Amino acid sequence: MTNTPKADSANKRARSVAVESKAAPNPSAAPEPSAALEPSAALESSAALESSVALGLWPLAGITTVGVMPKDVEETINAAIESGITTFDSAYSYGYEGESDRMIGRHLQSDRDRFRIIGKVGQRWTNRRQRIIDGSNAQLSADAEQTLKRMRIESLDLLMLHSPDPNVPLEESTIALCKLHQRGLCREIGVCNVDAKQLQQFSLIAEQASVPVGALQCPLNLLQRDSLTELLPTAETRNIRVHVFWTLMKGLFAGRIRRDHQFAAGDSRPNYEVYQGRTRERAHRIIDALHLLSHEAGLTVAQLSIGWALSQPGVEHALVGARRPEQVKEVAAARRLNADTLSRVDEIVRDAQGQA
Ligand SMILES: NC(=O)c1ccc[n+]([C@@H]2O[C@H](COP(=O)([O-])OP(=O)(O)OC[C@H]3O[C@@H](n4cnc5c(N)ncnc54)[C@H](OP(=O)(O)O)[C@@H]3O)[C@@H](O)[C@H]2O)c1
Repeated sequence: MTNTPKADSANKRARSVAVESKAAPNPSAAPEPSAALEPSAALESSAALESSVALGLWPLAGITTVGVMPKDVEETINAAIESGITTFDSAYSYGYEGESDRMIGRHLQSDRDRFRIIGKVGQRWTNRRQRIIDGSNAQLSADAEQTLKRMRIESLDLLMLHSPDPNVPLEESTIALCKLHQRGLCREIGVCNVDAKQLQQFSLIAEQASVPVGALQCPLNLLQRDSLTELLPTAETRNIRVHVFWTLMKGLFAGRIRRDHQFAAGDSRPNYEVYQGRTRERAHRIIDALHLLSHEAGLTVAQLSIGWALSQPGVEHALVGARRPEQVKEVAAARRLNADTLSRVDEIVRDAQGQA
């Protein structure tokens, strides 16, 4: 994450040829996640080792993901490390009591330099478990100090404003992050959940303070692609790397949730638009077609979905959440798609939209 933009885009070009379609030996059987872990012959060896997937720690914090146990946390993070994931995405509000910061902190004590750690500030929970957005200078500073204490490290690789606060000018929040950078609490700053105009404002203020803006975080998946129109091009113009989340739309685009799936009580997924009505049916039509493509490409549906997002201009990382080791092993093996596979995925999405 401390790469220069030039080195970074060279890496991206090297990795862009990463995934070649392979004919599946048995077209009636979907590829096993473990099979997809074997690097393709077309992969550069360095690209094969380091994953472009960053592990998102939200599900392991257990607020909306039901039934996560401490054993799941350790096994999933260990599996991520073994699978070549080196970037971990945490936030002050992932867990009511800072759980995600603490969970990743345990892995940083002996080998800090091996990992790139993203922290986010500006959102927290009340005693009654209501989420508060607070982008004031005092709160951002307190959140960042507390994050580092929880992780037991000196500085973050990337410190992000979790979201603009409607009651605090974005300028104030940006200056607050710049001051935290100047105090040595992070190597780069970044921002999440902004529009193109806000991103522009954030990066101009940081530039005036000579503070590097590392990345933007925004949602992107096969059915939620608004960011491609204006936000990603703005990030590219400003040399800001892009980290995308919800590439699996909370598991749906991994292809294992069926049309008749019954969600457990307390599972929040049915509240999301993609899980409802015509959008849900459109998602399933896409997933059905991805299952067919997956036989031919030798990639799982999850790897095709994440690979599509990684293949969009300027995307450095897909932030993907997981709560079990086998899930993380599968997603860590996702890579950018070659041009043919990419255009076939785009065609599948277009066809599904057309049938709506
Ligand atoms: N900056 C921001 O405002 C912001 C907002 C949202 C997210 N994020 C970041 O982005 C990350 C990703 O978002 P997310 O975790 O909410 O959603 P996600 O990555 O779209 O989906 C995660 C879920 O997908 C399922 N899954 C993962 N691998 C799978 C596999 N191989 N097979 C089947 N299912 C699989 C798991 O669900 P089940 O096992 O429960 O089915 C997991 O909890 C977050 O963890 C967070 O770090 C940032």
